[in-house]
Amino acid sequence: MSRILTGIQSSGRPHLGNILGAIVPGIELSKNEKNESLFFIADLHSLTTIKDAQVRQENINATAAAWLAFGFDTKKNIFYRQSHIPEVCELTWYLSCFTPYPMLANAHSFKEKSDKLSDVNAGLFTYPVLMTADIILYDADYVPVGKDQKQHLEIARDIANAFNQAYGETFVLPEPKIDERVMTIPGTDGQKMSKSYGNTIDIFLPDKKLRKQVMSIITDSTPLEEPKDPDTCNVFSIYSLLGTESQVKEMRNNYEGGNYGYGHAKQALFELIVQKFSKEREIFNTYMESPELIDKELREGEAKAKAIATKKLEVVRAKLGF
Ligand code: TYM
Repeated sequence: MSRILTGIQSSGRPHLGNILGAIVPGIELSKNEKNESLFFIADLHSLTTIKDAQVRQENINATAAAWLAFGFDTKKNIFYRQSHIPEVCELTWYLSCFTPYPMLANAHSFKEKSDKLSDVNAGLFTYPVLMTADIILYDADYVPVGKDQKQHLEIARDIANAFNQAYGETFVLPEPKIDERVMTIPGTDGQKMSKSYGNTIDIFLPDKKLRKQVMSIITDSTPLEEPKDPDTCNVFSIYSLLGTESQVKEMRNNYEGGNYGYGHAKQALFELIVQKFSKEREIFNTYMESPELIDKELREGEAKAKAIATKKLEVVRAKLGF
């Protein structure tokens, strides 16, 4: 049996990047009979940026509803809120004492965030240590993530390895699972799609708002009549991740043929999203209207997660002499 684990921060509503980078590949892996999956809402991590309790609660529900809408089987697997297993905070402290300061100071994501955000807090700095604890507390073998999390996984392996070297085999060294095709989904401005850049596509929005987001994708100024290069266009790159082979081929021909504007391409992308995710959008709304159903699913998972975490911490405490 292999353990698959991944988390999504509740720092906003889940977007297309989260769905294609983590939710879809995670659920695919979880369908394998031989795997047991732990998928969680990283609500403690969201405190690094979100301070409003009600906003956090709404984001937790939306993130959980997205997992459920895409068909995560919560009976076979384990579904939980990070904050409901406080053992992870205790392990974070232990691990932070095995984490060299320069490793955190040189993390790309810290550097990037500290350049962009006004609130550069210590939580943002020690973010990768909490993420390491998330993973190794449950002896996860594989972690399906987008490419942006690759360095965090390297850090997790380094910290787990440092502990193992000092105290003997204690933690499994986790391996990232990064799908080459969806490594980094671009946002409406062409940069990586991210909640903190305000460039997301939220497939669960009502039609009108979703269409507005799709229409806001930045394109160049090639006139309608002229042929366009699909390979440098953001609309095409998102379309090609979602469409069937023949749909993508047809779109390529449209671009190269001329008399096909970016407005047409964006409308086609909007229609494709609505059609492709119609079932998921409906289930998402049902859960959002009944948050008590989400809470029930999570509570069941939390009992299972707690049992694993408690056992592992007993081993760790004994090794450390606590
Ligand atoms: P977060 O919430 O930023 O992203 C959640 C997942 O979505 C992927 N992702 C993307 N994939 C492709 N293209 C994009 N534009 C894109 N944006 C986001 C991320 O790679 C990630 O897989 N630190 C994590 C949350 C976390 C975690 C963990 C993950 C906390 N503890 C333990 C795995 C294991 C994060 O920032 O997620």
